[in-house]
Amino acid sequence: MTPLHEVIINKNTKINPIWIMRQAGRYLPEFREIRKLNPNFINLCLNENLSTEITLQPLQRFNLDAAIIFSDILMLPYGLNQKVEFKKGFGPRLGKVKINEMSKLDEVDFVQKIYPVYKAIKKVSTNDLIKNQNKNMIGFVGAPWTLLVYMINQQSPKKNLKENFFKDDFLINRILLILEKFLKIHIKNQIDNGANVIQIFDSWAGLLEEKDLPNYIYSPTLNLVNYVKTLNTPVICFPREIKNYKEFCEIVNPDAIGIDYNVNPKKILRDIKIPVQGGLDPKILLTDKETIKKETIKYLDIFKNHPYIFNLGHGVLPETDPNMFEYMVNTVKNY
Ligand code: CP3
Repeated sequence: MTPLHEVIINKNTKINPIWIMRQAGRYLPEFREIRKLNPNFINLCLNENLSTEITLQPLQRFNLDAAIIFSDILMLPYGLNQKVEFKKGFGPRLGKVKINEMSKLDEVDFVQKIYPVYKAIKKVSTNDLIKNQNKNMIGFVGAPWTLLVYMINQQSPKKNLKENFFKDDFLINRILLILEKFLKIHIKNQIDNGANVIQIFDSWAGLLEEKDLPNYIYSPTLNLVNYVKTLNTPVICFPREIKNYKEFCEIVNPDAIGIDYNVNPKKILRDIKIPVQGGLDPKILLTDKETIKKETIKYLDIFKNHPYIFNLGHGVLPETDPNMFEYMVNTVKNY
């Protein structure tokens, strides 16, 4: 059995597999080299050879247990024909949602537009580094809420949503219905091409007050989680900075829960029964070896009798030194 399945399905507490959010990315000089020659980020994600290469880069360097496909959660609105661009030093910028056009889009058009993503998943999952070494291939999507945030806000919301974000609830409901349909299609295609774990990134879950969680997070995410379960593939949810992890797990009940670095891991251990992933503050990797070792072992100790996948509490920062990343990986492996 693959390492992530061993923990998530068999609830094995003797091993702590490790993979890192954003492990394929800007902290690696070999990624930056490719990126420099490919200024259009979307086109890079749609280049099946380069996205395969980038996905495998961290596995060539470090003793990681899983690959996560080099793609982006915003490939979904892109596939729905919303304009999506990545501006240097600014982040994503999206065009306005054209809801009537979007409502008419069919599955074939969508799949065709982002087809190279699936081809890359196939290439990675059949590569010797993954297949012969019994590693996991992680596919992913953005959660409906986080995608809605980008689609309406048209850029990263930073700390707050625009005042009139919820103004047009008819539009919001139509977008959520479209997202439900196409997220399922996107997940199914990733699994059909070799993804054997799905992670749902809800990066902006922390923007919502508790009263809004049922409508925008619990209900649409539960629907997706139940769908992934019918495909016999474990699903990990990462509702970053959500106000109530316990309630989220009780209601949505994913196969594993990713935790952010602001939540107290001891409280998580007390409150949550399902396998846990992550938690370490990515900024720890900007300190020194002694601190990295201490903090890494802190998480491993807390979860030593609980099924636990090692990861950070958010993506690895671009300014991270790959040697420090390696030191963390080896600390986990030698635990
Ligand atoms: O984890 C991996 O290594 C796989 C690839 C991956 C990327 N984005 C590549 C990427 C994954 C899993 C994502 C998910 C993603 N994308 C999320 C959820 C996770 C999170 O970080 O909260 C979100 C919110 C996005 C949207 C997005 N994509 C933003 C806001 C940005 C710009 C700022 C940033 O964080 O880099 C991106 C660009 C992006 N996606 C880059 C990479 C490697 C950087 C591209 C570059 O400028 O070179």
